[in-house]
Amino acid sequence: MSFSLKGMPTSPSPLAQLPIRRLTSADLLSCADLSENRGWPREEHKWGLLLTAGTGYGIDDPDGPGLAAGCVVTPYGPDLAAIGMVLVAERYARQGVGRRLMQHVLAEAGDAPLTLYATANGQPLYEQLGFTETSRAAMVRGRFTFTAPAPDVPVRPATAEDLPAVLRLDHEVFGLDRTALIARLPAFADHLRVAEEDGEITGFAAAWPNMDTHVIGPLIARDPGTAKALIASLAAATDRPLRTDIDVRHGSLLSWVKENGIDTITTTSLMIRSLPDLPGDWRRRFAPLTVAAG
Ligand SMILES: CC(C)(COP(=O)(O)OP(=O)(O)OC[C@H]1O[C@@H](n2cnc3c(N)ncnc32)[C@H](O)[C@@H]1OP(=O)(O)O)[C@@H](O)C(=O)NCCC(=O)NCCS
Repeated sequence: MSFSLKGMPTSPSPLAQLPIRRLTSADLLSCADLSENRGWPREEHKWGLLLTAGTGYGIDDPDGPGLAAGCVVTPYGPDLAAIGMVLVAERYARQGVGRRLMQHVLAEAGDAPLTLYATANGQPLYEQLGFTETSRAAMVRGRFTFTAPAPDVPVRPATAEDLPAVLRLDHEVFGLDRTALIARLPAFADHLRVAEEDGEITGFAAAWPNMDTHVIGPLIARDPGTAKALIASLAAATDRPLRTDIDVRHGSLLSWVKENGIDTITTTSLMIRSLPDLPGDWRRRFAPLTVAAG
C-alpha cells in the first residue's frame, strides 16, 4: 500500500491493475509500434514468427489504441522457455510495468527454466528476478567483404529431404526439441544452407529478412571452420548487410567476421533462471535464430 502526502492510503497506480492479456497475430502492428516507440526497428517479420510460434503477453494502452507493454515467450517443452521482446512504451517507463509483466510471465511459466538475452536496460530487472548471466553475445552487423576466406567446407542450399537431419542436429546441439521453430525456417528464411561432409550434415544456417538486413541465425556447426563456410555462403546469396549475434566464447569466429567487415554494435547478456546452465553444446551453437527466442 502507498500513502499520500497527508498520510492517507491511496489507491494503487492504475497501471498495476491493467489486465495482462495474450497477444495474437492480430496484434502484430501494435507490437511493431511498441518496438518503434523504444527506438527499436519495427521488425514485423520477426514479430510475425514470434507471435505464432510463441506466446505473446501484452497490456493495452489505457489512453488509446495500441500497447503499453508486451513480450513474447517461446516454449521448448517443459525444460526451457525463452523470453524476448520485453518492451514498455516510453510514456509508461520506470513505473513498475516491466516488473509486473515479467512477474506475470514467471508465474505462467511455473517451474519451467527460463532464458533470455538482456539488453543493458533490461539486465538489472532480470537480475532482481533471479536471472544470472551464463554468457554474452556480440551483436554484429555490416556488409560482408569476403576479405578473409572461409575454409573449403562444402555448403549447399537445404532441400526438403534435409529437414529430418537438420532437426536431429539441432536437437543434439540445442539440447531440446525445437521442431516447432526449426520446421518454420524454410518459410521464414530467405536462405537455408547446410554443410555436408562425407554424406553427413555437419551444420546449418538460415538468413532471414529483417528491415534492410539479413539476419544469420540459427547458426549451428561442427566447428568454427564450418560456421565460417556457412556464413560466407549466405553472404554470397544477398546484397543486404548481414546481422547476427555470436556467442562471445567464439572469439575466432568473431575475429574472422570482423576482418570481413562485420563488426560488433553492442553486446547482450545471455541469462538463465532456475537452471545451472543451458542444455546442449555451446561449442557448436554459434548464433541463435534470434536473441528474442534463443
Ligand atoms: C527494460 C524495460 C522493459 C523496463 O521496464 P520498466 O517498466 O521501465 O521497468 P520497471 O519500472 O518495472 O523497473 C524495474 C527495475 O528495472 C530497473 N530499470 C528499469 N529501467 C532502467 C533503466 N533505464 N536503467 C537502469 N535500470 C532500470 C530498475 O532497477 C527498476 O527498478 P526501480 O525503478 O525500482 O529502480 C523498459 O525500460 C524498456 O522497454 N526498455 C527498452 C527495451 C529494452 O531494452 N527491453 C529489454 C529487452 S531484454
